[in-house]
Amino acid sequence: MRIAVPPLKCQGIKTHLVEWILGHVSLSESGTWIEPFMGSGVVGFNVRPPKAVFADTNLHIINLYNAIKNGQITPGIAKEFLEKEGSFLREKGEAHYYAIRERFNQTSEPLDLLFLNRSSFNGVMRFNKSGKFNVPFGHKPERFAQAYVTKIINQIRQVSQALSMYDWQFTCADFRQTLALATEKDLIYCDPPYIGRHTDYFNGWSEQDEQDLFDLLAKTKAKFIISTWHSNQYRKNLALEKYTQNFTVFTREHFYHVGASEKNRNPMLEAIVLNYDPEPQLETIELSQLALFEQKPEYHFLKINPTE
Ligand SMILES: C[S@@+](CC[C@H](N)C(=O)[O-])C[C@H]1O[C@@H](n2cnc3c(N)ncnc32)[C@H](O)[C@@H]1O
Repeated sequence: MRIAVPPLKCQGIKTHLVEWILGHVSLSESGTWIEPFMGSGVVGFNVRPPKAVFADTNLHIINLYNAIKNGQITPGIAKEFLEKEGSFLREKGEAHYYAIRERFNQTSEPLDLLFLNRSSFNGVMRFNKSGKFNVPFGHKPERFAQAYVTKIINQIRQVSQALSMYDWQFTCADFRQTLALATEKDLIYCDPPYIGRHTDYFNGWSEQDEQDLFDLLAKTKAKFIISTWHSNQYRKNLALEKYTQNFTVFTREHFYHVGASEKNRNPMLEAIVLNYDPEPQLETIELSQLALFEQKPEYHFLKINPTE
């Protein structure tokens, strides 16, 4: 299946999990997709639910999507902006990147965030202790070549088309507030930060947060899907053992690279946790038919029986 890639990238983006998660989605027609940790939004954007609440404590992400929603950012406006700033970047090099970074840190202008996100080192978003964007330049003054600008504009166009068809809300909120909105018709998708990984101003995650999250999920009347890590060659995710006894856990092996060498291909077991038994959905059937014509990666699936 072709995954729609969103215009903003973030640490821990789950593009590689979209198809797997989609295969377990169970949402009634009148239900709301609730995503308390939206990050890039790639999962919900590909589910394309008629009604959704996308939330995150990172107000910059929320500002950008609200700006697309209210027409302050259109594909045309973004194109003009990226072409103009891209040509300054070509001319002035890293000085221009740092000037935009400074401007963004003063004004929180969403188009500046888009520029930084797509030209920063490794294309990441990271904020220091005072909440200031602090990723260095990615050393590519030619970054905003025409083809790349077109690619980003198409990503914005996809989101803005979806926003004209569906009822999607974007809200800056802590997960505790967002989870309080869920009713029994809804499906919650949670992709929380991992303790000690990618920690920055918006991604601090404590034992207490983890406990609050699982306590609230244990009480919710809604269905939920959590994506998280299960184990790697050195460690396992103890929270899974501690909190998911009564839920269904599926795992899948994922390889990630550290550096360029094939030798540094590290396996990691990723998990999704569900509080319901996934039945084959119409959507899933359509997806698997689609997938017949496309190359599918090979995965190892393992359902862990919660009673074992
Ligand atoms: C692992 S990322 C989500 C990635 C996303 N699923 C994707 O595919 O791009 C976790 C997100 O949770 C947000 N976050 C961290 N603490 C939060 C909290 N207490 N409440 C809500 N969002 C939070 C972060 O800003 C970050 O965007």
